[in-house]
Amino acid sequence: MNWSRGYKLALGLIFWGGAAWAGPQVFVTGDYRGEIKPCGCSKEGDLGGIERGSSFLKTKGPQDIWVDLGNFSAKATEQGQLKTRLLYDYFRQRKLFAALPGPLEFQKGVDGLRRFPLPYLITNQQRPFPVGARNKQGGGLSWYGYLSPSLLSKGTHQTVWLSDVQNFLAKLGKEKTPKALLFRGPKTELRAILAQAKFQLVLVGNQAQSEEEQVLRFTLGGRRFLKPPLKGQGVLVLKDVSDHQGQVHWLKADTPNDKVWEKKFQAYNQAVEKIFFAEMEGSQKKGKRVYKGAEGCISCHKRQGKVWRATRHAKAFDSLKSVGKQFDPECIRCHAAGYQSRGFVSEEITPDLVGVQCENCHGFYRPHEKGWPEKREKLNRMLCKGCHTGSHSPKFKFSAYYPKIAHENP
Ligand code: HEC
Ligand code: HEC
Ligand code: HEC
Ligand code: HEC
Repeated sequence: MNWSRGYKLALGLIFWGGAAWAGPQVFVTGDYRGEIKPCGCSKEGDLGGIERGSSFLKTKGPQDIWVDLGNFSAKATEQGQLKTRLLYDYFRQRKLFAALPGPLEFQKGVDGLRRFPLPYLITNQQRPFPVGARNKQGGGLSWYGYLSPSLLSKGTHQTVWLSDVQNFLAKLGKEKTPKALLFRGPKTELRAILAQAKFQLVLVGNQAQSEEEQVLRFTLGGRRFLKPPLKGQGVLVLKDVSDHQGQVHWLKADTPNDKVWEKKFQAYNQAVEKIFFAEMEGSQKKGKRVYKGAEGCISCHKRQGKVWRATRHAKAFDSLKSVGKQFDPECIRCHAAGYQSRGFVSEEITPDLVGVQCENCHGFYRPHEKGWPEKREKLNRMLCKGCHTGSHSPKFKFSAYYPKIAHENP
């Protein structure tokens, strides 16, 4: 899939043109990327989630409009499908007005759209196309959606589902009503559209790779851009369609959880637990265990063992248990040793591989009492970022964190 061009384009939100025009509030989200609930790994990253979003969006009046810029789907795994389903239910429950499907919705071709039939708005669709509208009226605006064909996989039939800028422009209505555009694609295509058509409001999805990289406000060509935060961590709210400032409402811990989701999340956890046990059988068949376990290392490296036991790494699995997530594969991968790679299987089967262990960093055991088989390179500090990443550890700085776990011999 050709994402790079899309990522380079800082997708944003632009306003211009038209006389002052008041209307309903507009709520803007996008790029949930399967995020349904904060992981709880850090206070600073504790943002977003369906339960908070749902209670915040209750403040939406009947005239107000909620649009989503797409890319809400999780990975097309079994667990991912469960997450996408929850987001789909959320969009329906809080009455999403329109969604521009993003590349993630096309992972399984147009079938993904059929499976989660939202009010898709995609003006540059070509036939055949299962669901979606080419334009929509709401809030005194005529709404259009443009997803660049360049964002879908090249060399497959995917590209034929969408047409280019010229075709899109030809499909714009001739009506007098002010227009709004939901856009995702390269800057050049946005420019080409704006050179020929006037929009009261343009909302553009943000494709920053991570929260660290996202910039929520910037100007381009004298026009103001605003972006809704990634991963549903906040909702961008415009007082009306001529609000050039907008405001991000961050969904922090002080936003209450909407209780209606409790049962659904319980059901989700149960389904994930089922997946865990099914995968467990598979991973046991994958081959013999290669991880030795921390105690095995410590039998020779006593000094290192003493330091390690006092770190939070040693207790990382307890943290999962304390929130009832010891059966969630997506959590275990950073909270145990060698999960799904011939190490940790389950707490019962491999009780000695819980937590972040020696082998998470040093690689699994190979005999080296007479020296390492090859010249040993110092570990790369980037290895920390494999887990200390994004909202899992927003405060992470090697220089501040490393001293807390350092265990070199004097
Ligand atoms: C990408 C790796 C990664 C994944 C995936 C991950 N965690 Fe974490 N988790 C971390 C790191 C790193 C920390 C320590 C953060 C820090 O202190 O900077 C942490 C800390 C925690 C803590 C301790 C918080 C505290 O303050 O005591 C809990 C609880 C936790 N994670 C739960 C979860 C749950 C639940 C999931 C799955 C939904 C999960 N984690 C998935 C990396 C991860
Ligand atoms: C049977 C004893 C024994 C076991 C078990 C063992 N080691 Fe070692 N290890 C040694 C010896 C001996 C050396 C070389 C001398 C030294 O550096 O302490 C060494 C060296 C190392 C070094 C390199 C130190 C340096 O100076 O470069 C690392 C890293 C290391 N071991 C990690 C591990 C890890 C991780 C495990 C468990 C997976 C482990 N060892 C298990 C005995 C052992
Ligand atoms: C396999 C995933 C993983 C890797 C790799 C990893 N960590 Fe961690 N780290 C965690 C998890 C998970 C926690 C939280 C443990 C808990 O409290 O549950 C954590 C917690 C910590 C903490 C405690 C934070 C605090 O505020 O007390 C420090 C310090 C730390 N890690 C440093 C490092 C450093 C330095 C590296 C790289 C050399 C590293 N970690 C590599 C997963 C990892
Ligand atoms: C979070 C990652 C991490 C964990 C967990 C970890 N180490 Fe290390 N270890 C490092 C880093 C980083 C260094 C220093 C750089 C290097 O030697 O590559 C190091 C150094 C070492 C050394 C070399 C000491 C020296 O003086 O050069 C040994 C031996 C060692 N670790 C053993 C262990 C053992 C045994 C455990 C488990 C009890 C363990 N480590 C857990 C990251 C880790």
